[in-house]
Amino acid sequence: MAVKSPLINVIERAARKAGRNLNRDFGEIEQLQVRTKGPADFVSNADHKAEDIIRNELYKARPEFGFLMEESGEIPGKEDGYRWIVDPLDGTTNFLHGIPHFCVSIGVEGRSVIGGKLSTEILAGVVYDPVHDHTYWAEKGAGAWLNDRRLRVSGRRDLASSVIGSGLPTLGRSDPDVFQNQVRDLMEKVAGIRRFGVAALDMAWVAAGRFDAFWEVALKPWDVAAGILLVREAGGFVSEIDGGNNMLNSGSILASNGQIHADIRSILAKYR
Ligand code: IPD
Ligand code: CA
Ligand code: CA
Repeated sequence: MAVKSPLINVIERAARKAGRNLNRDFGEIEQLQVRTKGPADFVSNADHKAEDIIRNELYKARPEFGFLMEESGEIPGKEDGYRWIVDPLDGTTNFLHGIPHFCVSIGVEGRSVIGGKLSTEILAGVVYDPVHDHTYWAEKGAGAWLNDRRLRVSGRRDLASSVIGSGLPTLGRSDPDVFQNQVRDLMEKVAGIRRFGVAALDMAWVAAGRFDAFWEVALKPWDVAAGILLVREAGGFVSEIDGGNNMLNSGSILASNGQIHADIRSILAKYR
């Protein structure tokens, strides 16, 4: 049985409220596509509205926590080491094009003692897919869940049956040559490679065992904070592509079921 802590309830409430708003706005997009001005301003408004909703909800519940939000940036809190990491709309390009695949992502970082040392780590996270009304949530030590169902990463051990998600280096965000070499190499070894354009959901899908692995570079903390905990709590493994553990700062992510991590990593890390 899924037992949600007060912290998860707070995050879920905020994510669902913002998601409902996004869904409503998404319904307008089709109409807007035909206008000459296009829907870009409308989407940017929807994005900001969602962020305001989340910020208000979270602030009401924990006024002492800080924020790191995609649109408003860093807002320091009163309690050092505790902050919400928020992407109000992950998958903006999909949303703008009327593609029903986007989400809200909220992680929360806090202090805990790791190996006798006081460190900051991700304590809880929610990735909410409003189109399907799917709440992917995880809390440190309490597992990863999709609504009331416990999530486990896949058990695949061989690359030949694995499906791998990734993100394309569009608009100069990262090196296309490196990416092309990685894809060319992987293509010969795996069952499929997918690119759906929502990093937070890509990671939730690793947690749900749909993708066996996912990699991308140049991501932001709000794209991955919740996803990292989801994958870990579902029994998977997350590292940077070079093997390090500094994903939130570097933006380099390889998330997998653990079984194929070393094999995928050794292929990706050949190219730089
Ligand atoms: C983007 C999505 C996309 C990833 C980009 C991100 P946004 O976030 O997560 O999948 O490839 O790097 O910037 O802009 O839709 O919030
Ligand atoms: Ca994002
Ligand atoms: Ca966003």
